[in-house]
Amino acid sequence: MKSEGNPLDLRVWLEQVRALDELTEVVGADWNLELGAISELNAKKDLPPALLFDEIKDYPKGFRLVTCSSASPARLSTMLRMETERSPLKLVQALRGKPSEWQTNAVNYDPVVTASGPVFENTLSGDAVDVNLFPSPLWHEKDGGRYIGTGCMVVTRDFDSDWVNVGAYRNMIHDRNHVGLNMIPAKHGAIQYRKYMKAGKPFPVAIVLGCDPLGYWISGLEVPFGMCEYNYIGAIMRQPVSVVNGPLTGLPFPAAAEIVLEGWAYPGDERIEGPFGEFHGYYSSQAETAPVVTIERIHYRNNPIIMGSPPAKPPNDYSYAKAVTRSAMLTDALHAAGVPDVVAAWAHEIGGARMFNVVAIKQRYAGHARQAGHVLSQCGVGAYLSRYAVVVDEDIDPSNLHEVMWAVATRTEPDLDIDIIKRGMGSKADPMAIAYQHKGFSSKAVIDACRPYDFINEFPPVAEASRELQEKTRTKWQHIL
Ligand SMILES: Cc1cc2nc3c(=O)[nH]c(=O)nc-3n(C[C@H](O)[C@H](O)[C@H](O)COP(=O)(O)O)c2cc1C
Repeated sequence: MKSEGNPLDLRVWLEQVRALDELTEVVGADWNLELGAISELNAKKDLPPALLFDEIKDYPKGFRLVTCSSASPARLSTMLRMETERSPLKLVQALRGKPSEWQTNAVNYDPVVTASGPVFENTLSGDAVDVNLFPSPLWHEKDGGRYIGTGCMVVTRDFDSDWVNVGAYRNMIHDRNHVGLNMIPAKHGAIQYRKYMKAGKPFPVAIVLGCDPLGYWISGLEVPFGMCEYNYIGAIMRQPVSVVNGPLTGLPFPAAAEIVLEGWAYPGDERIEGPFGEFHGYYSSQAETAPVVTIERIHYRNNPIIMGSPPAKPPNDYSYAKAVTRSAMLTDALHAAGVPDVVAAWAHEIGGARMFNVVAIKQRYAGHARQAGHVLSQCGVGAYLSRYAVVVDEDIDPSNLHEVMWAVATRTEPDLDIDIIKRGMGSKADPMAIAYQHKGFSSKAVIDACRPYDFINEFPPVAEASRELQEKTRTKWQHIL
């Protein structure tokens, strides 16, 4: 499909966020722990704004960093090119079916290559290359170093095909022209890297450190093996991504990228990387060796903006967006598995959108609740690192932890209503992996917190005002309620 490309300009998106009144500018924060702590506390607010840091200590005015980009329904829906939505559950409903639609349409949206773009406003090479030019934070006290890449896109090309992959893999600064590249072994970038190493060849890398957040968000999602994330992003925008080819590596990156590091990971050059927190809120793995990229070229826009998205104990910078995206995918998976009358599913932020998932159903038959719970726990998108799958009745809002835990406290008999699945799919990144000697297993609990189906009509009624009375009262007494 031929059309003019979209260069993924972060500044265009920031103006939309400003118009939504969801952008706060922060002046004078210290890159050394303060910026990270401000971002972390901000992410714990009920409706956190995006933060745009400027005049960061030791850095010139204009060298900026943004955090918390996707942590509200309005910002996330804007990012995903949907109608502005302010209700999380409605956004999940609106998102249902979209991931498979985007995947199918991706083939029609090859990126378009342009000769130039704002990313080339400044270029550094040779001795001038210095990543310390940009305000990379020391995000948390126990981090192994300063991380320039968190909300980043790492662009690489396959060794023996034309497949370009773009993954969000964090980057720790080693020195002025070296950064670490943390890729879990099964990730596509890691698979490509191993092919180059086996052949004894340097691995070309371009690291995009800021653009429209849709870029890093899709780079952080499991796009199928062999598919380029630029195609997937194009399908979301219904417009191809406009890219320029890196003069050093030939790798494509968005024409309006804020900062791009180009270089090579050389065979044998691996150094200690980390530790750094994970999405579930723990430093679950030790500092280990990881590939190192030798940076030979830096391109950046005037007054560049780093996209920051650090993990931490949830709620964190991106746990909300993960919760919404994964809730839509889980709801689709339950439907695809044939579970009827699913009202809504929710992948809670407290479990990093993986470890504590809830589904609300309208019970139709004996065994319906267990069926929904086991599918939620074991379906393709749900099985990795799932720990608790909770099933509630339709009067419970699955995204509201108070309501969910009230149902668990009052509608379960533990010896009857908790099924344990032993030796299920775990992860080395699981903080509890120690209990399984890091062998990759994990047990799972399916909690049936629905009213017992066989006594559903005798179950005690709920002691609260009816929905109608609540609504009538809220309307009449809104000045005090
Ligand atoms: C903000 C953010 C940071 C991430 N950091 C890492 C990381 O450092 N290493 C990693 O292997 N995966 C990381 N991930 C997850 C991967 O980006 C994700 O699994 C993605 O699918 C990887 O791309 P791939 O499927 O092309 O391998 C991160 C995800 C996000 C959203």
